[in-house]
Amino acid sequence: MKIAIGADHGGFRLKEEIVRFLRERGHEVVDVGCSSESSVDYPDYAVPVCDMVVKGEADRGILICGTGIGMSIAANKIPGIRCALVHDVFSAKATREHNDSNVLAMGGRVIGPGLAVEIVRVWTETEFPGDERHQNRIEKVRRLETGRTGQERA
Ligand code: RB5
Repeated sequence: MKIAIGADHGGFRLKEEIVRFLRERGHEVVDVGCSSESSVDYPDYAVPVCDMVVKGEADRGILICGTGIGMSIAANKIPGIRCALVHDVFSAKATREHNDSNVLAMGGRVIGPGLAVEIVRVWTETEFPGDERHQNRIEKVRRLETGRTGQERA
């Protein structure tokens, strides 16, 4: 699998661990940065990773900041991205099976490398079954990407 990965300073150390793990498992990894623990802005790394996924230049994306929250908020603004903020193995599997998530966000200040690597392993190995029930829900989410003013009733 070709995986794009990005992090801010809060996720830099965990990103390095995840990149090593993915390469050891034979994945092709595109690391868009950052390259140190100096302060940077998480959207600057969320956007290139998500752009690669949307354009089909990467199969999946992984984003890491201090909490994973900023990265997931930014990523989910980009049409075509279904970013899941995950800090447990159950959710890693569930979000592939239910949401067909194409980007994974994690917080480098929330979990340690052991759990993070296991989350990445499960998330990369779990296929979306493509059943009608979940596909239909994903399609409803996709339709939220266009034509809304923010004034609609539910
Ligand atoms: C950076 O200090 C921190 O705000 C960022 O890594 C992330 O947690 C934002 O959601």
